[in-house]
Amino acid sequence: MNELVVESPGRINMIGEHIDYNGGTVMPAAIDKKLLIYFKINKSSSTSIESIYYRDKFLVDLNNIKKSKISWHNFILGVLDILLKKKINIKNFNCVINGDLPIGAGVSSSSALVCGLIKGLTTINNYKLKDGEMIDIAREVEYNFIGVKGGIMDQFTIINGRKNNLILLDCKSNKHKYVNAKFDPFKILLINTNVKHNLQESSYNQRVDQCNEALQHLNKKENKFKFLVDVPRDILRINKKNIDEKVFKRALFVIEEQIRVNHAYKSLVSGDLEYFGKLIYESHFGLKNLYEVSCKELDFLVDFSVNKEYIIGSRMMGGGFGGCVLNIIDKNYIDDYIREISDVYKNTFSFDLKSDIVEISDGIKIKKVG
Ligand code: GLA
Repeated sequence: MNELVVESPGRINMIGEHIDYNGGTVMPAAIDKKLLIYFKINKSSSTSIESIYYRDKFLVDLNNIKKSKISWHNFILGVLDILLKKKINIKNFNCVINGDLPIGAGVSSSSALVCGLIKGLTTINNYKLKDGEMIDIAREVEYNFIGVKGGIMDQFTIINGRKNNLILLDCKSNKHKYVNAKFDPFKILLINTNVKHNLQESSYNQRVDQCNEALQHLNKKENKFKFLVDVPRDILRINKKNIDEKVFKRALFVIEEQIRVNHAYKSLVSGDLEYFGKLIYESHFGLKNLYEVSCKELDFLVDFSVNKEYIIGSRMMGGGFGGCVLNIIDKNYIDDYIREISDVYKNTFSFDLKSDIVEISDGIKIKKVG
């Protein structure tokens, strides 16, 4: 095969935010919004990469990979750099990136790009990687080349997503199970604030550091806890006076978010969607007040939905500081709600929002061309 297309989906996360890098259990799923990444081996002496979204094209010398000043280029350069350092033989190629996945909206377009590139480049160069190896490489790119100290939730989901199922993923062990996610009559509506976030520039890494700091404090007397999610809430409370106030708030959020995920799983299994939705709202208020990764536009959208009985759950999603709100909404009210919220949002913030109904879909796929 010297030509192929990778379909690399985005992901949602129902609940379990900012706990993947704390050893937590999360509840994400791949969605039907995807990047389509086209690859063709070429016979020239350079590689060309084009993004339809960015209306930009650049050439890469595979013998001399250097970081770029242009942020999106670095995701590609990072993948190439790490694959080449692993002695994977990559022939020059042309690549065109397209698709309907919103960029910088909290649905993990960056991991979709990184995973899609790894999958496409290894396949087209006849190199077999196990899923676990692919996740490790993707994470290495984001950690070492891009500089975001993220967890594994996004990469794992993009690779292992399954239609109509959430993944209950234990990020300590990568053990996971699929949970049926047919919410009829409810649908998943993403509302994009159109506030662009950039995890690298934002305070994402600072949150990771604050969690590590909390864990170190809690382990001062005896080294008992491997991950922050393992700490009982009472133990954290007893230690409150010894911990910096902000660090305490971060840790409290992490511990409570894990408790919410456990309850959310049970409520899904027992079919109690109302309670499931309540936990989703609570997750938002924790992200806003304790973890402080929300923003006024996200809060506005969540607050607007609180009194609508046809929206059973709403919260900011992903790293935060912008991006999307996830709503679980009765399908019969979607059009009216979008009309109403679009007007009010525009009047309040003077810019448009964008909304998408998403379906839970399968993970990454290779398509032959022709
Ligand atoms: C980003 C990171 C994930 C995760 C989420 C927050 O999407 O890439 O690893 O930490 O933020 O839950």
